Amino acid sequence: MDYKHLFAEQLATSIEHVLAVEEIEKVIEKPRKQNLGDFAFPCFVLAKHWKKAPQMIATELASKIEHSLFQKVEAVGPYVNIFLHKKLASKQILDEVLRHGDQFGTNKDGSGGAVTIDLSSPNIAKAFSMGHLRSTVIGNAIAHIAEKNGYRPVRINHLGDWGTQFGKLIVAYRKWGNEEEVRNNPISELMKLYLRFHEEAKDDPSLEVEGREAFKRLENGDADNHALWEWFREESLHEFARIYDLLGVKFDYFTGEAFYTDKMDAVVDMLEAKGLLIESDGAKVVSLEENNLPPCLIQKSDGATLYATRDLATAIYRKNEYDFAKSLYVVGSEQSLHFTQLKLVLQKAGFDWSQDMEHVTFGMMLRDGKKMSTRKGHVVLLEEVLKNAIERTQAIIEEKNPTLKEKQKVSHDVGIGAVIFHDLKHFRTNDVEFSMEQMLNFEGETGPYLQYTHARCHSLLRKGGYTPQTEALEVIDEEAWPILTLLKDFDQVVKLAWREYDPSKIARYALDLARSLNQYYAHVHILSDEQNKTARMNLIYATAMVLKEALRILGLQAPQEM
Ligand code: ARG
Repeated sequence: MDYKHLFAEQLATSIEHVLAVEEIEKVIEKPRKQNLGDFAFPCFVLAKHWKKAPQMIATELASKIEHSLFQKVEAVGPYVNIFLHKKLASKQILDEVLRHGDQFGTNKDGSGGAVTIDLSSPNIAKAFSMGHLRSTVIGNAIAHIAEKNGYRPVRINHLGDWGTQFGKLIVAYRKWGNEEEVRNNPISELMKLYLRFHEEAKDDPSLEVEGREAFKRLENGDADNHALWEWFREESLHEFARIYDLLGVKFDYFTGEAFYTDKMDAVVDMLEAKGLLIESDGAKVVSLEENNLPPCLIQKSDGATLYATRDLATAIYRKNEYDFAKSLYVVGSEQSLHFTQLKLVLQKAGFDWSQDMEHVTFGMMLRDGKKMSTRKGHVVLLEEVLKNAIERTQAIIEEKNPTLKEKQKVSHDVGIGAVIFHDLKHFRTNDVEFSMEQMLNFEGETGPYLQYTHARCHSLLRKGGYTPQTEALEVIDEEAWPILTLLKDFDQVVKLAWREYDPSKIARYALDLARSLNQYYAHVHILSDEQNKTARMNLIYATAMVLKEALRILGLQAPQEM
């Protein structure tokens, strides 16, 4: 039941449709304090129409509106406030949750349209950075949010697997590489080789030439170079896969930059044909002077294409292949200029759909206030961080609940959940301070706190011998109302999280829900009153279900016991 809509309908009738229901809905507010009611309509909009003081209008309207679901309608200054009939509304809300199960809060707004999500996208033969971790976690949550809003998410890992650096790597490997070492420790060995290349190139500039030539041969399809490149790529992906497994994130495609090599000429030709390419120091660029931005580099003087060229080909390919409703790029804010240029070039080329491309930015991961780097320790560091979170959880469980079943699995779910939630509870553009202590605090605003609250519900339901119901009973407790108003709002939060590409909306919601649940717990003896036991357990069951769904959206598991 959409109570806001209902209120808007009642209002529209009372004002003889001077305003449409949708217009009214847009201005209806939620009073800041619960004792002022559940919804408020500010009458200023009508004052213009009727040339009357809004206070007078509010008084008149309040006396006109009637509905069995509204317990009280009240004029407070220029506002009409309504109070829902708590008992009736409570039953209705719970009925709806129980009936829909994990589909509660799902809407069809997206009508099945595709949303491509460019996420994670690490660079081959390089460390998987904290930025890539953030992109993975945020992108995955946004994919779930898109799905919950009726879209079809397409998760694409746009690997950085092309460019002159691979020519250099090939040269370095041939000179100093060792197959076994690379096999045992691909990313750190390849990074060492790459660094050595740069060291030695300082004294021997001919290396640079060799590197460029090796890349050119690679681009022209030289079999040996291609085999090496393929091997580096595979070994790197293998290592990345360990992180994805730990995080529980899957992709639909691993189409990286290399995938677009044969689609680049068409881009250059198209820009040329549209008269957008100009020469600049031998290179070809699209001028963005009228936008007060530096030009977008399309082709170097030696004919090589660039990151931007590959992203132009990517954008066009994605439109043709998936006909996206939205195309999202979950990439750190340091690439803002790149994505602004990309959209402008596409717009100048006449692709109106470029408006549907969105750079979903995020801030840095900090440790002690400084940008956290995985460079020195390579990919291992990040894997170690995740494993460390699991181990620490294991120790906590060993201390608090040593007889728990499936300790291993629960430690994994809670440890990883702690890291993911810590990232997602902040608005994504904020920097995040990485603190293991904070993440794992079972009483703080953490993943473990939410998972624990969820498990606690299930332990209570087990104790009470609860079997899931499809219809709610009336909940008599006044203390239940804060929970019910939150349940009622879930669908709105799901919509807002999509509009703003903001998982933290779901995270904050989950925290509010857990908090109100724990407060209810503290005040009401749920199992001791036989008469109201089932009604109360229904409430616990429904709330646990929505909490679990919120966690799922964020990418967290919700164990039933912990
Ligand atoms: N590989 C890039 C990096 O690590 C991120 C790629 C983002 N996606 C894109 N379509 N440009 O910085």
